[in-house]
Amino acid sequence: MKNFYACLCTSLFFILWSCTQPPETAVEQEVTTVDSTYYQELYRPAYHFTPQENWMNDPNGLVYFDGEYHLFYQYNPQGIQWGNMSWGHAVSTDLVHWEHLPVALEMEEGIMIFSGSAVVDQNNTSGLCDSPEGCLIAIYTAHTDALQNQAIAYSNDRGRTWTKYEGNPVLDENMKDFRDPKVFWYEEDQKWIMAVALPQEHKIRFYESQNLLEWNMMSEFGAQGFVDGIWECPDLFALEVAETGEKKWVLIVSYNTDDNGSSMQYFVGDFDGSTFTNENTDDLVLTLDHGRDFYAGVTWNHVPGERRLLIGWMNNWQYGEKIPTTPWRSAQSLVRELDLHEFPEGTRLTQKPVDELQKIRGKHVHDENVLLQEDDNYLSLENIQGKQLEIIAEFAYEAIDTQAEAEQLAGEFGIKVFKGDQQETVIGYDAATQSLFMDRTQSGDTIFHDTFSGRTLALMPTDDGTVKIHLFVDHSVVEAFGNDGYVAMTNRIFPDPALDGVEIYSVGGTVVLKSMDIWELQSIWNPVAAEIREVEEQ
Ligand code: FRU
Repeated sequence: MKNFYACLCTSLFFILWSCTQPPETAVEQEVTTVDSTYYQELYRPAYHFTPQENWMNDPNGLVYFDGEYHLFYQYNPQGIQWGNMSWGHAVSTDLVHWEHLPVALEMEEGIMIFSGSAVVDQNNTSGLCDSPEGCLIAIYTAHTDALQNQAIAYSNDRGRTWTKYEGNPVLDENMKDFRDPKVFWYEEDQKWIMAVALPQEHKIRFYESQNLLEWNMMSEFGAQGFVDGIWECPDLFALEVAETGEKKWVLIVSYNTDDNGSSMQYFVGDFDGSTFTNENTDDLVLTLDHGRDFYAGVTWNHVPGERRLLIGWMNNWQYGEKIPTTPWRSAQSLVRELDLHEFPEGTRLTQKPVDELQKIRGKHVHDENVLLQEDDNYLSLENIQGKQLEIIAEFAYEAIDTQAEAEQLAGEFGIKVFKGDQQETVIGYDAATQSLFMDRTQSGDTIFHDTFSGRTLALMPTDDGTVKIHLFVDHSVVEAFGNDGYVAMTNRIFPDPALDGVEIYSVGGTVVLKSMDIWELQSIWNPVAAEIREVEEQ
């Protein structure tokens, strides 16, 4: 029976796969003179943001202005290791395709431009805008070995050129570690708020300002949640809880430890214009992303509508400078939309990649109701390969009434990507512990750092045995979302470039693959696609 299903599916996939080949268009025939090696290097993600060359870390200055989403980022214009920190720059009109722009803020006179944010100064509160409609202001940490303080720069030409404010710094507390200002407009009190990290003290400080130039301290939050290592890159924003409509505030904080590397936590609570209050106990740690490669995530300012959009750096300070890519190092995650939902354990963030990504979906296959039985089961998708895929799979496993039954079942099931004889990356669900996991121990090159290999895990309880896995696979990236974004898990991998196999598997338990959709995703960097878009838009 198993073979019958496997066979049926394989043929069905093959037929669908071939039928969905896009027709050759006149436009495609026109564009033949493009550089076919552009963004094709080993491990180069095809639809995640990477700089053309050199080192990148945190996303910075996320702001929407005049039809463009700006993405600035920590950048070393001179090398593939961390150093000479400046703000690189890209813009997008759709959160999917990015256009590279020249470096926006360059380090000078020994002062590095560390992480920060950007705002639209709509009412020219700073007096730095040429037009009464406002201008862009970036707020960043000016870093020297002895001192970190907060400085600003402004742009009156839609972010194309920047001037550092001559009265810098705008906030100096004479501290060595005091960084990553996130500034936003607080409508209720008509004022600017800044959240900024005291890394060693595991605290976030809140300041207020009328003009972005003078700042008053209001309060501190911490040390709560995860309090080892250092705290960096705070962000504070409000969201409505989907089920109740109640407005709550979310404070997100990145933390970095020598032993376990980089990760992110968040707090849910209230903010009254001066003080953030955590609604949970001090020691509760809420993890934002359960993989090893999601850090320094922050959200966009001034996004139209109610959307709260997050992007994070897909790397880890523990091994980040060793990852085997050249001539660039590091990638940003997909843009994710955040929501708050009620769960039995409390109010929690959910994350989902933005719907705009659907526009790069290409060849598609769908299947449903495939039974994977208890013994050594796998569904080999021989005619579906890919290194740039989106996969949505919904599984249903035998209903489990008690923990004892769950432990007995001890089954696991899921998806293997970059599958070969010697290598695989496994994204699965462990029924006994009710956890979503990702295993990169056999994923390919793991030896460049002794802490890289491993397995990441997140509790994902289900009432009815339904497990939904939404995966984005992109050459050296796996971003996984479990049960509609209840769990996010992001990991980098460096597989043998010859491998592109995909397999659905189950061991030790019977499971039904209720439905599965796989899309091949188009490159956002492909110069052919870029030209086709241009022609189509005319
Ligand atoms: C976080 C971080 C920030 C700092 C920046 C320097 O990854 O350490 O705290 O501003 O990177 O590049």
